[in-house]
Formats: sequence, structure tokens, C-alpha cells
Amino acid sequence: MHSIAFYLLLLISFTAIAIPPTTSATTIGVTYSTPASISGSVMLSPDRIAAKVVSMKIPAVRLLDSNPAMIRAFAYTNVSLFLSIPNPLVPLLASNRSLAMRWVYRHVLPFYPRTKISIISVGNDAISYSPDVSPFLLRAMQNVHLSLTDLRIYKISVSTTFSFFNIVPTAFPPSSAQFQQPNGEVIIRPILQFLERTNSSFLINLFPYNMYRSSFSIPIGFALFEEFPFNFRDDLTTGVRYRNLFDMMVDAVISSMAVMGHENLPVIVAETGWPSSGIDSSEVDATLLYSEMFLKALLAHLRSGSGTPLRKEGVSEVYIFELVEKDAKQGIRNWGLLHHNMTNKYSFEFSDGGKARRLLLIGFFLELVMLCLLM
Ligand SMILES: *[C@@H]1O[C@H](CO)[C@@H](O)[C@H](O)[C@H]1NC(C)=O
Ligand SMILES: *[C@@H]1O[C@H](CO)[C@@H](O)[C@H](O)[C@H]1NC(C)=O
Ligand SMILES: *[C@@H]1O[C@H](CO)[C@@H](O)[C@H](O)[C@H]1NC(C)=O
Ligand SMILES: *[C@@H]1O[C@H](CO)[C@@H](O)[C@H](O)[C@H]1NC(C)=O
Repeated sequence: MHSIAFYLLLLISFTAIAIPPTTSATTIGVTYSTPASISGSVMLSPDRIAAKVVSMKIPAVRLLDSNPAMIRAFAYTNVSLFLSIPNPLVPLLASNRSLAMRWVYRHVLPFYPRTKISIISVGNDAISYSPDVSPFLLRAMQNVHLSLTDLRIYKISVSTTFSFFNIVPTAFPPSSAQFQQPNGEVIIRPILQFLERTNSSFLINLFPYNMYRSSFSIPIGFALFEEFPFNFRDDLTTGVRYRNLFDMMVDAVISSMAVMGHENLPVIVAETGWPSSGIDSSEVDATLLYSEMFLKALLAHLRSGSGTPLRKEGVSEVYIFELVEKDAKQGIRNWGLLHHNMTNKYSFEFSDGGKARRLLLIGFFLELVMLCLLM
């Protein structure tokens, strides 16, 4: 009486048991920067922002300007913070240890560990900042790191943030990507050594939107994680098939690190996102719909735990740019998940609240019931 269907179901059930619950290794957070001008009657006080982040169940926030009041507002929230040191300070912190100590005294010591601070980025895309302050990066990072260890703070990593487009000239095929020279040898290599030595992470701003816009040969579906039959690109060197642009860009970064012998450093995507409006009519793909599609597909992809072809565990953290729209004006690129007045642009669940695991359990019990019926 045992039919083929029975054995098939048995097989499916064992597979379901063998697959561990899908818990993504990637922490997904958002970026936040204090608006330069407060327009209208909206008051975005640090406490209000922190409360909003907690209510949206967002586990990590990157503060683009490390306003001490904001760091204080996250005390006792269990939200982990990624702090950034502005580019103009980099040469000063590089040349003067006591200034680095002063920065730590002002931004870390009064709040840590009540506020969870996980990492400090010394500068943000310093290579493109004018005047170029990147020659001072390593020295400044070392001084901030030494200041922390002098205070017996060992759990906060120190790094710097690069921007994909300013350090990786060609992303395809990912396996032959290399850091742009001469900055690769002169600036990035010594920094990779520092990151390895101090157990830190490589931080990168990575926008599939910008790459899609700069290349006519990339279909929109590839940038938006759509599962169409022709939405792929094969890396003929490694024989790996890429089904989305995000993974391709991440693997280009990993290959570039591998060329320098540092392929195992954790990678954190310090900024990514898709704008819901563009500067002018040429940005036809900066729409609310695409921005929503990108966000939802990215969250689902990261939660699936499938990683990238070159890195099974995937990137360790991803920060969505950005929590709140900077301005309600027209004619600027708007990236916010929330409108300027803190209302949602579209509905989405930031945390899946274990939904994937519940679905798996329900499926498993349904199968058990069917098995019993068959027997
Ligand atoms: C705090 O966050 C960590 C990781 O983000 C999590 O493992 C832990 O359960 C959280 N603790 C509380 C009390 O929410
Ligand atoms: C370093 O900074 C400290 C604190 O601001 C200042 O007193 C000192 O003069 C600076 N040293 C140099 C060499 O600039
Ligand atoms: C780096 O991490 C490893 C493994 O977690 C640990 O053994 C080592 O002491 C750490 N090194 C530093 C400098 O924190
Ligand atoms: C918030 O701002 C958005 C966009 O400007 C607008 O559509 C919406 O009506 C506003 N909501 C409230 C409650 O003010």
C-alpha cells in the first residue's frame, strides 16, 4: 500500500528536518543623519528617533553624524550603533593622539556600554572628499583604536568606509575585480592589514541603483532581485551564476580583498538603498514603486541566509540608506524609508519576527498529517 507518493513525502520531510531554521546571519539596520534644516513643524528630537527605531524593531543604526545627544538617546535600547567620524576631522585625529582621545571622551565614554556601540568609522568615502584626506586614514584609525584600548574598551571595532564606485573600477566579472590603483596599494592594503590585526570589518557603501544607472546592459529586474528566467549573469571564470546585482557587487569587493590576501575579512554594507524620487526627469527609475520593491526584495534576500556565491554566510551587516527623508522638497533624491514627517512611505516589516520559522513549522506539521493519512 506504500505508494511512490509516500516515499516522496518521507523524503521531503527528512529534507525539511535537515534544513536548519532560516536565521539570517546578516544584521539589517538603517542610516540616520540629523537634517541640516528643520522644515515645517516637524521636530525630530533624538528621543523621538530612538523610540521610532525601537518601535520598528530595527536592531542597528548607523549615525552619519555622531551627535552625542543621539548616542545618549539609544541608551538601554539594545540597538547597536555604528558611529562615523566626519572627514574634516581625519587629518587632525591622525596628527594628534590627544584629539583622538578627546573624540572618544566626548562620543563613547559617557554613554558606553549603556548605549551599545559596535563600530566606529573614521571618515566616510574619504577618497572622494576634497581635499583628499585618505592618506591620513590609517593613522587616524590607529589613534582612535589606541584611545579605546587605553580605556580598556576592546569590543568596539575601528574601521573606515569606502564607496564602491571610488575603489572598484569594474565589477564584472566579479572574480576579476581589483581595487583601483594606486589607491589600492597605497591606501587600502595597509588598512586591510590593520582591520585583520584588530578583528575589524571592511565597510563599503554599495548602491546597485548607481551601477544600474551607469550601465545600459543591466536589466532593471537584475537590480531589483526579480526572479525572471533571463535575469542572470554568468561569471565565466568561476562558473558562478549571479541572479542579482547586489551579490555581484559584494563579490567584486570580496575578490578585490582576496587579491590582497584578505578574503576572509567580514564585510559590512554601510549604505545601500533605492531612491523614491530623482533630481530630474532623467531618473525615470527613481520611483516609489521601485524603491519599495528593492527594499522588500533585499530584506527577503538577506533573511534567506543564502549569502553570496563567494561568501556563503553573506555580509555581516547591511545599513539601508536612510531612515528619514532629509527634506520634503521636490527635485532632490529622496531615499527615506519614512517621510520627513515620520510617517511610512509604504508598509513593510523590518523584522520578520520569526515568521519564516513559523511557516516552516506549519509546513512540517501539514506533512506529518498527510503522512499519517497515507499510512
Ligand atoms: C539584544 O540584541 C541582541 C543582538 O542584537 C540579541 O541577541 C538579544 O536577544 C537582545 N536582547 C534583548 C534583551 O532584547
Ligand atoms: C593636540 O591637541 C591638544 C588638545 O586640543 C592640544 O592641546 C595640543 O596643542 C595639540 N598638539 C599639537 C601638536 O597640535
Ligand atoms: C580576534 O578574534 C579572535 C577570535 O575571536 C581572538 O582570539 C583574538 O584575541 C582577537 N584579537 C583581537 C586583537 O581582538
Ligand atoms: C506626511 O508627509 C507626506 C509626504 O509629504 C504626506 O503625503 C502625508 O500626508 C503627511 N502625513 C501627515 C500625517 O502629515
